[in-house]
Amino acid sequence: MLKGKKIVLGVTGGIAVYKAVDLVSRLRKQGAEVRVVMTEHAQEFVTPLTFKEISGNKVAVSMWESNQEFNVEHIALANWADVFVVAPATANILAKMACGIADDLLSTTLLAAQAPIIVCPAMNTGMYENPATQENIARLQQRGVTVMPPAVGMLACGTAGAGRLPEPQQIVDFIKNFVAKREGDMRGLKVLVTAAGTREPIDPVRFVGNRSSGKMGYAIAQAAAERGADVLLVTGPSALPLPPNVQACKVETTAEMLKSCLDAYDSVDIVIKAAAVADYRPHDVADQKIKKKTDDALTVVMDKNPDILKELGMRKKHQILVGFAAETQNLLENAREKVVKKNLDMIVANDVTAAGAGFNAETNIVKFLFPDGSVSSLEQMPKTAVAEKLLDTVMQLKSSK
Ligand code: CTP
Repeated sequence: MLKGKKIVLGVTGGIAVYKAVDLVSRLRKQGAEVRVVMTEHAQEFVTPLTFKEISGNKVAVSMWESNQEFNVEHIALANWADVFVVAPATANILAKMACGIADDLLSTTLLAAQAPIIVCPAMNTGMYENPATQENIARLQQRGVTVMPPAVGMLACGTAGAGRLPEPQQIVDFIKNFVAKREGDMRGLKVLVTAAGTREPIDPVRFVGNRSSGKMGYAIAQAAAERGADVLLVTGPSALPLPPNVQACKVETTAEMLKSCLDAYDSVDIVIKAAAVADYRPHDVADQKIKKKTDDALTVVMDKNPDILKELGMRKKHQILVGFAAETQNLLENAREKVVKKNLDMIVANDVTAAGAGFNAETNIVKFLFPDGSVSSLEQMPKTAVAEKLLDTVMQLKSSK
């Protein structure tokens, strides 16, 4: 999303300036071109040379570069930017922006900017919560400026509260999401993704589960968010970190997953059910830990769980519904049956026993099957690449529906 994007980064004088150095480096790793404008106070914390080296571009610091000549760099920079980011943004720059004050290079460039502006306020909690700052922020938001809320935590002044500059990677993710929501091919679409395996309790310490890691579903959720979709990730327990910019709903049992899916179903455009759902649950869940008995065997009677995908298929209206088929034999035959029986638009079939595929693997080998019987086979590729191919196909289905 940020490849080739021209980002002007305004850096104002706060202790968090050091994080802006890392931010520039991370933005460049994403393929963005970055030009930095520093205020005089920012230069008290870090020298322009640091930003010059890290951005690979000259750093703009003054309207009067040669001390004699007025240069129009502020207009050139304002016109150059695809996105204008101010991080850290002090209370002072927010106040100046809100009032249209242009008394140095950064504030003047901001006033001339045509590009969308993102500000990342960072200051002491008292300053942040001061009604003057809050009013300025509200005014900027009314004018279309995007505000990334500060993090809450320990501040340099020794107090704890709201006002910390978020971590550089969080700012990068925020900018990526901002751009994706304006330019991504899935912008405006609501996507429900389910991931990982459900667990059915036997007693307070034991459950029936499966080997699903959540990698495939998480990759799909992340890819959809990066393409600008609003993503709801309904996930069973997983060791993976949640992907950025998705709304997550953590569930444990099949019944909980069903409820979360049904609650969201009417409002979503696309459903991708990558979760490995427990087909059965113990009939009785013991209140206390089941103790070892003298018998050699223990019988757990299981009841059938609802088939979430089938339920969604029966209620399908405008949605594109995509299922997964995890098979260990007769892959195509079983997947074909599921795509029809569950009223799907597509099923992603994979042989979970194949090397380089299935649970916990980094790669997958899948086939896309459609209700008309057609099949498209993909070679072995990383799950992130499978996610992109899957979304490409879903977008084709969407446009032909
Ligand atoms: N699925 C579901 N609810 C269930 C079982 C499965 O929503 N109770 C969904 C899965 O999320 C997946 C698809 O149905 O998208 C196929 O799951 P899979 O386990 O391969 O098949 P089942 O339909 O459970 O059939 P079987 O276990 O007999 O192969």
